[in-house]
Amino acid sequence: TDTALIVVAAGSGTRLGRGVPKAFAEVAGAPILEHALRGLAAIDAALVVVVPAGLEADAAVIAARAGVTVSVVVGGETRADSVAAGLDAARDARWVLVHDAARALTPAAQVERVIAALRAGASAVVPVLPVVDTIRAVTPASLAEPDELGAIVDRAGLRAMQTPQGFDATVLRRAYAEADARVASTDDAQLVQALGLPVAAVRGDDLAFKITTPADADRAESLLGPAIR
Ligand code: C5P
Repeated sequence: TDTALIVVAAGSGTRLGRGVPKAFAEVAGAPILEHALRGLAAIDAALVVVVPAGLEADAAVIAARAGVTVSVVVGGETRADSVAAGLDAARDARWVLVHDAARALTPAAQVERVIAALRAGASAVVPVLPVVDTIRAVTPASLAEPDELGAIVDRAGLRAMQTPQGFDATVLRRAYAEADARVASTDDAQLVQALGLPVAAVRGDDLAFKITTPADADRAESLLGPAIR
């Protein structure tokens, strides 16, 4: 295959509050990473899983249970560091997808939409969703003083970014090589855009939500149903 799919799973999971790195926390009887990998089993791509140091062997066991073959590499302090580590392990790929393990219920069809857009010629692709909440800006003053909120931002002009984000591998490598270290990015496409290159959108999916808080874990649990083994 000419496509690598990097699954970043090296986050700490502080906001989930389970006391283990998030991707290794259990939801519906299996680690979040296992659910994520099961959902990717049908995708024609070389899987690279990026995990916290010390959890390499656990990740290999989880991948075997999910029925997939993976390369396991150790991540870094920030998400961007973890993506860079995954990118180093994806040397031969022509296209690279970067996906959050925490988006464990992402439908395979969403991954396929990203791959299709790359094959149709896009050099960077992100799945997006309209924003449902009313969004208000904050300013340094309003953060210090809660009754000084900024203006409402028209949500019709906003989209929420999901993953996997897909890239021409050469473009993503260049974006990472040239990225300003001060851009502590949680969005890989942002780094590509910083090079002045266009980023295309495909339709995201509510099911590709990122498990971040305990409420998100409850939602995943109810969608996945009872324990899978
Ligand atoms: O923290 P957040 O939920 O935004 O992280 C998104 C994804 O990036 C998660 O799957 C997480 O495991 C991963 N991550 C990582 N390395 C980090 C921080 C986050 O692989 N240092």
